[in-house]
Amino acid sequence: MALMLSLLSALVVLSHGHGGSLGCNLTLNHDLVSNENVVLLDQMRRISLSLCLDDRKDFRFPQQAVNGSQVQRTQAISVLYEMLVQTSRVFFTEQSSAAWNTTLLHQLLTGLHRQLEDLEPCLVQDVGQAESAAGKDPTLAVKRYFLGIRLYLKQKKYSDCAWEVVREEIMSSFSSSTSLQEGLRKKDGDLPGLTLN
Ligand SMILES: *[C@@H]1O[C@H](CO)[C@@H](O)[C@H](O)[C@H]1NC(C)=O
Ligand SMILES: *[C@@H]1O[C@H](CO)[C@@H](O)[C@H](O)[C@H]1NC(C)=O
Ligand SMILES: *[C@@H]1O[C@H](CO)[C@@H](O)[C@H](O)[C@H]1NC(C)=O
Repeated sequence: MALMLSLLSALVVLSHGHGGSLGCNLTLNHDLVSNENVVLLDQMRRISLSLCLDDRKDFRFPQQAVNGSQVQRTQAISVLYEMLVQTSRVFFTEQSSAAWNTTLLHQLLTGLHRQLEDLEPCLVQDVGQAESAAGKDPTLAVKRYFLGIRLYLKQKKYSDCAWEVVREEIMSSFSSSTSLQEGLRKKDGDLPGLTLN
């Protein structure tokens, strides 16, 4: 519990110290943070996946939802945002802080939080709603995917192998989303009211 509290207060401090980022600004800086997340997830590895062959599972990553060439700009932002929210939800738990190196976990959660803050001004609320009314909201696929991951962890009683499988899975889902981020920068200026460098 003490760890959760210290993480929470770190996040609160961070969100206040990060003020002034009012406009939507997706720069190189932004990319670096997400790259850091992959590096951190990699560093967090504690056991070899080869010891966990029986625990492997196909979580059915929604590949179409993150395929940069097929996803519209506004959707791309919502999808990335949802991935970050859901990843935090997996790792920001008591079970997670019991399982992982707390220093690395803390850095990961801080990085996720920073990236969420960067994306927040870029979210266009009513676009997402219009799409979900039409039954095409790609964030639903992302939510379903992460729900599968959380249920799996629970079912496996948060075993070391289950966490390892999940760490690897989320790391590769982050890597898959890089094409989405590249797409985002190529399509700069598609939306009115956004400042993009
Ligand atoms: C966007 O962010 C970068 C890096 O943080 C910063 O250098 C730049 O001034 C920002 N641009 C705007 C328009 O806020
Ligand atoms: C992404 O979409 C492009 C264009 O439709 C397609 O050629 C490519 O195979 C897709 N990639 C994945 C990984 O689904
Ligand atoms: C956690 O990771 C950090 C950074 O890699 C390392 O310095 C530290 O020794 C690790 N702590 C434990 C308890 O393994």
